[in-house]
Amino acid sequence: MTVHPILSIGHPTLRVRATEIEPEDIGTPATQALIDDLIDTMHAANGAGLAANQIGHACRVVVMEVTSNPRYPYKPPLPLTVAINPVIEPLDDEMVEINEGCLSVPLRGSVQRHVNIRVRYLDRDGVAHDEVKRGLTAGTWQHECDHLDGILFVDRVDDPTSLATWDEFNDFHRDAFIERITAFVERVGS
Ligand code: NI
Repeated sequence: MTVHPILSIGHPTLRVRATEIEPEDIGTPATQALIDDLIDTMHAANGAGLAANQIGHACRVVVMEVTSNPRYPYKPPLPLTVAINPVIEPLDDEMVEINEGCLSVPLRGSVQRHVNIRVRYLDRDGVAHDEVKRGLTAGTWQHECDHLDGILFVDRVDDPTSLATWDEFNDFHRDAFIERITAFVERVGS
Protein backbone atom coordinates (compact mmCIF):
# COMPACT_ATOMS: atom_id res chain seq x y z
CA MET A 1 0.00 0.00 0.00
CA THR A 2 2.03 2.87 -1.31
CA VAL A 3 1.13 6.14 -2.94
CA HIS A 4 3.69 6.76 -5.66
CA PRO A 5 4.77 9.98 -7.36
CA ILE A 6 3.09 10.28 -10.76
CA LEU A 7 5.37 10.85 -13.73
CA SER A 8 4.77 14.03 -15.73
CA ILE A 9 4.79 14.61 -19.48
CA GLY A 10 8.38 14.61 -20.66
CA HIS A 11 9.33 11.52 -18.65
CA PRO A 12 10.49 8.82 -21.12
CA THR A 13 8.58 6.01 -19.38
CA LEU A 14 5.31 7.68 -20.39
CA ARG A 15 6.35 7.28 -24.03
CA VAL A 16 7.26 3.61 -24.22
CA ARG A 17 4.93 0.80 -25.25
CA ALA A 18 4.27 -1.12 -22.04
CA THR A 19 4.77 -4.90 -22.18
CA GLU A 20 2.13 -7.56 -21.57
CA ILE A 21 1.92 -9.24 -18.18
CA GLU A 22 2.18 -13.02 -18.47
CA PRO A 23 -1.06 -14.54 -17.13
CA GLU A 24 0.91 -16.79 -14.75
CA ASP A 25 2.48 -13.66 -13.23
CA ILE A 26 -0.82 -11.97 -12.34
CA GLY A 27 -1.05 -13.71 -8.97
CA THR A 28 2.50 -12.96 -7.89
CA PRO A 29 3.03 -10.68 -4.88
CA ALA A 30 4.86 -8.17 -7.08
CA THR A 31 1.99 -7.81 -9.56
CA GLN A 32 -0.66 -7.71 -6.85
CA ALA A 33 1.35 -5.06 -4.95
CA LEU A 34 1.66 -3.00 -8.13
CA ILE A 35 -2.13 -3.15 -8.60
CA ASP A 36 -2.70 -2.08 -4.98
CA ASP A 37 -0.24 0.79 -5.41
CA LEU A 38 -1.98 1.92 -8.60
CA ILE A 39 -5.33 1.99 -6.82
CA ASP A 40 -3.92 3.86 -3.81
CA THR A 41 -2.14 6.39 -6.03
CA MET A 42 -5.24 6.93 -8.18
CA HIS A 43 -7.35 7.51 -5.07
CA ALA A 44 -4.82 9.89 -3.50
CA ALA A 45 -4.74 11.99 -6.68
CA ASN A 46 -8.52 11.94 -7.24
CA GLY A 47 -7.90 10.38 -10.65
CA ALA A 48 -10.51 8.56 -12.73
CA GLY A 49 -7.83 6.16 -13.90
CA LEU A 50 -4.13 5.41 -13.77
CA ALA A 51 -1.80 3.34 -15.94
CA ALA A 52 1.22 1.49 -14.61
CA ASN A 53 3.68 3.48 -16.69
CA GLN A 54 2.47 6.64 -14.94
CA ILE A 55 4.15 5.33 -11.78
CA GLY A 56 7.18 4.03 -13.62
CA HIS A 57 6.24 0.42 -14.44
CA ALA A 58 6.00 -0.12 -18.17
CA CYS A 59 3.65 -3.09 -18.04
CA ARG A 60 0.09 -3.36 -19.33
CA VAL A 61 -2.16 -2.74 -16.36
CA VAL A 62 -4.58 0.12 -15.75
CA VAL A 63 -6.99 0.89 -12.95
CA MET A 64 -10.14 2.99 -13.23
CA GLU A 65 -12.81 4.17 -10.84
CA VAL A 66 -15.30 7.01 -10.83
CA THR A 67 -17.47 7.63 -7.80
CA SER A 68 -18.12 11.26 -6.98
CA ASN A 69 -14.98 12.71 -8.46
CA PRO A 70 -14.20 16.39 -7.78
CA ARG A 71 -11.95 16.49 -10.86
CA TYR A 72 -14.67 15.11 -13.13
CA PRO A 73 -18.10 15.74 -11.53
CA TYR A 74 -19.94 15.02 -14.83
CA LYS A 75 -18.55 11.51 -15.26
CA PRO A 76 -21.01 8.68 -14.66
CA PRO A 77 -20.04 6.10 -12.02
CA LEU A 78 -17.46 3.52 -13.03
CA PRO A 79 -16.86 0.74 -10.51
CA LEU A 80 -13.28 0.00 -9.52
CA THR A 81 -11.80 -1.89 -12.46
CA VAL A 82 -8.38 -3.47 -12.87
CA ALA A 83 -7.59 -4.23 -16.50
CA ILE A 84 -4.53 -6.30 -17.43
CA ASN A 85 -3.44 -6.56 -21.07
CA PRO A 86 -6.54 -4.64 -22.21
CA VAL A 87 -7.47 -4.61 -25.90
CA ILE A 88 -9.93 -2.06 -27.29
CA GLU A 89 -11.92 -2.46 -30.50
CA PRO A 90 -14.20 0.34 -31.76
CA LEU A 91 -17.67 -0.98 -32.58
CA ASP A 92 -18.65 1.76 -35.05
CA ASP A 93 -17.63 5.20 -36.30
CA GLU A 94 -19.57 7.28 -33.76
CA MET A 95 -17.28 9.79 -32.06
CA VAL A 96 -17.68 12.33 -29.28
CA GLU A 97 -15.49 15.30 -28.37
CA ILE A 98 -14.43 15.03 -24.73
CA ASN A 99 -12.46 17.60 -22.77
CA GLU A 100 -9.92 15.47 -20.90
CA GLY A 101 -7.38 15.87 -18.19
CA CYS A 102 -4.57 13.57 -17.09
CA LEU A 103 -2.60 13.17 -13.88
CA SER A 104 0.59 13.34 -15.98
CA VAL A 105 -0.32 16.53 -17.85
CA PRO A 106 -1.06 19.90 -16.18
CA LEU A 107 -3.58 20.85 -18.87
CA ARG A 108 -6.98 19.90 -20.18
CA GLY A 109 -7.87 19.67 -23.86
CA SER A 110 -10.48 18.33 -26.27
CA VAL A 111 -10.08 15.00 -28.04
CA GLN A 112 -12.28 12.80 -30.21
CA ARG A 113 -13.12 9.41 -28.69
CA HIS A 114 -15.11 6.44 -29.90
CA VAL A 115 -18.54 6.26 -28.24
CA ASN A 116 -18.98 2.47 -28.48
CA ILE A 117 -16.11 0.07 -27.86
CA ARG A 118 -15.49 -3.57 -27.03
CA VAL A 119 -12.90 -4.21 -24.32
CA ARG A 120 -11.16 -7.47 -23.57
CA TYR A 121 -8.91 -7.79 -20.55
CA LEU A 122 -7.90 -9.89 -17.57
CA ASP A 123 -8.80 -8.79 -14.07
CA ARG A 124 -6.54 -9.10 -11.00
CA ASP A 125 -7.69 -12.69 -10.49
CA GLY A 126 -6.74 -13.55 -14.06
CA VAL A 127 -10.37 -13.86 -15.14
CA ALA A 128 -11.00 -12.92 -18.77
CA HIS A 129 -13.60 -10.23 -19.54
CA ASP A 130 -15.22 -9.28 -22.87
CA GLU A 131 -17.49 -6.25 -22.46
CA VAL A 132 -19.03 -3.30 -24.32
CA LYS A 133 -18.41 0.22 -22.96
CA ARG A 134 -20.13 3.39 -24.07
CA GLY A 135 -19.93 7.14 -23.70
CA LEU A 136 -17.63 8.77 -21.17
CA THR A 137 -16.79 5.38 -19.68
CA ALA A 138 -15.56 4.30 -23.13
CA GLY A 139 -13.57 7.54 -23.24
CA THR A 140 -11.90 6.76 -19.92
CA TRP A 141 -10.95 3.30 -21.21
CA GLN A 142 -9.45 4.78 -24.38
CA HIS A 143 -7.48 7.39 -22.40
CA GLU A 144 -6.02 4.82 -19.99
CA CYS A 145 -5.21 2.24 -22.66
CA ASP A 146 -3.50 4.94 -24.74
CA HIS A 147 -1.04 5.33 -21.85
CA LEU A 148 0.03 1.70 -22.34
CA ASP A 149 1.01 2.55 -25.91
CA GLY A 150 2.98 5.64 -24.85
CA ILE A 151 0.23 7.99 -26.05
CA LEU A 152 -0.92 11.02 -24.06
CA PHE A 153 -4.22 12.80 -24.67
CA VAL A 154 -2.37 15.89 -25.91
CA ASP A 155 -1.21 13.80 -28.90
CA ARG A 156 -4.87 13.51 -29.93
CA VAL A 157 -5.84 17.17 -29.44
CA ASP A 158 -6.89 18.36 -32.91
CA ASP A 159 -7.41 21.98 -31.89
CA PRO A 160 -4.56 23.28 -29.70
CA THR A 161 -6.69 26.28 -28.76
CA SER A 162 -8.77 23.88 -26.63
CA LEU A 163 -5.78 23.43 -24.29
CA ALA A 164 -6.23 25.13 -20.92
CA THR A 165 -4.92 24.96 -17.40
CA TRP A 166 -7.42 23.65 -14.88
CA ASP A 167 -7.98 27.17 -13.49
CA GLU A 168 -8.62 28.66 -16.93
CA PHE A 169 -10.81 25.70 -17.90
CA ASN A 170 -12.91 26.26 -14.79
CA ASP A 171 -13.15 30.01 -15.42
CA PHE A 172 -13.87 30.02 -19.16
CA HIS A 173 -14.83 26.61 -20.55
CA ARG A 174 -16.22 24.38 -17.82
CA ASP A 175 -19.85 25.47 -17.88
CA ALA A 176 -20.29 25.07 -21.65
CA PHE A 177 -18.52 21.70 -21.61
CA ILE A 178 -20.57 20.36 -18.71
CA GLU A 179 -23.81 21.48 -20.39
CA ARG A 180 -22.88 19.69 -23.63
CA ILE A 181 -21.45 16.57 -22.03
CA THR A 182 -24.33 16.20 -19.55
CA ALA A 183 -26.75 16.12 -22.48
CA PHE A 184 -24.52 13.50 -24.12
CA VAL A 185 -24.42 11.36 -20.96
CA GLU A 186 -28.19 11.56 -20.68
CA ARG A 187 -28.48 10.42 -24.31
CA VAL A 188 -26.06 7.47 -24.24
CA GLY A 189 -26.54 6.55 -20.59
CA SER A 190 -22.92 6.23 -19.52
NI1 NI B 1 -3.90 10.04 -18.17
